[in-house]
Amino acid sequence: MQSDTRRLISIIEQVAEGNYSNDIMEFTKPGYDDVSQRIAEAVGMMMVKVEAREHRLEQLIEELRQLNQRLKDNILKTVATIANALGARDTYTEGHAIRVAAYAVRLARRLGLPPEEIEHIRTGAILHDIGKIGFSDRVFSDQDIRASDGLLLEIQKHPQIGVNILTSLDFLGPAVDYVHYHHERLDGSGYPCGLKGNEIPLGAQIVSVADCFDAITTERSYQKGRNNTEAFAILRKMSGVHLAPDLVEAFIQEIDENGSLTGQQYSADVAADLQALLVRDLDGLP
Ligand SMILES: [Fe+2]
Repeated sequence: MQSDTRRLISIIEQVAEGNYSNDIMEFTKPGYDDVSQRIAEAVGMMMVKVEAREHRLEQLIEELRQLNQRLKDNILKTVATIANALGARDTYTEGHAIRVAAYAVRLARRLGLPPEEIEHIRTGAILHDIGKIGFSDRVFSDQDIRASDGLLLEIQKHPQIGVNILTSLDFLGPAVDYVHYHHERLDGSGYPCGLKGNEIPLGAQIVSVADCFDAITTERSYQKGRNNTEAFAILRKMSGVHLAPDLVEAFIQEIDENGSLTGQQYSADVAADLQALLVRDLDGLP
């Protein structure tokens, strides 16, 4: 076999492997025999068409990825909007999910968690109380829920109701676990499963710290909203018993350095802004 033919075959074999180069075009130039020229032209043409198709395929995959992301975002926004609509029944819940998400994301960032995990935590935090949608109106009446065992039992069902609502949205991944376990406590005295220590997923523990802080600092019909110093003292009492000490300390540091969202919760403008920020970029919050 002549060396030119051997080289031509070698180049075609490389093309077959997906290594496209312009080496093949050398054989279309005058000086090579007619057969080699025609083979090189045909392979060159084939390469151009394959490359164009590959490019189009990449574009289509990217379009599909973006559509998929938009679909997920829209589903999430819909569920989060329903969660926020709880505010119509319960003034405390209004804005609570969004504030908890903002706090949880700040804590997760401070702990240096990877971006994907932070997104799961954000989603879990926004949706953590979605199960309250199953509450009877009695739960939202103006009484201290801690006063009634019957109501307490009903309230304790909300993590499981949340999981039941979200379980078909498989793209939520571990965020569903964070909804499920956000009332578990370090010492096993939490609900619904009585998980202990590291049995509780880190994401759920982060949502739990953020949830507690917002609950403590929010004004309610039966409770005055505490200031940050008072809230830190309460968190430290819960530290090691209900909440993980390292998370509590990191959270306190975060709030100490960058402030809390309290004091703004009754401003209609801020509430509207928060609503608009649902799901998307909670980091821009003042
Ligand atoms: Fe909850």
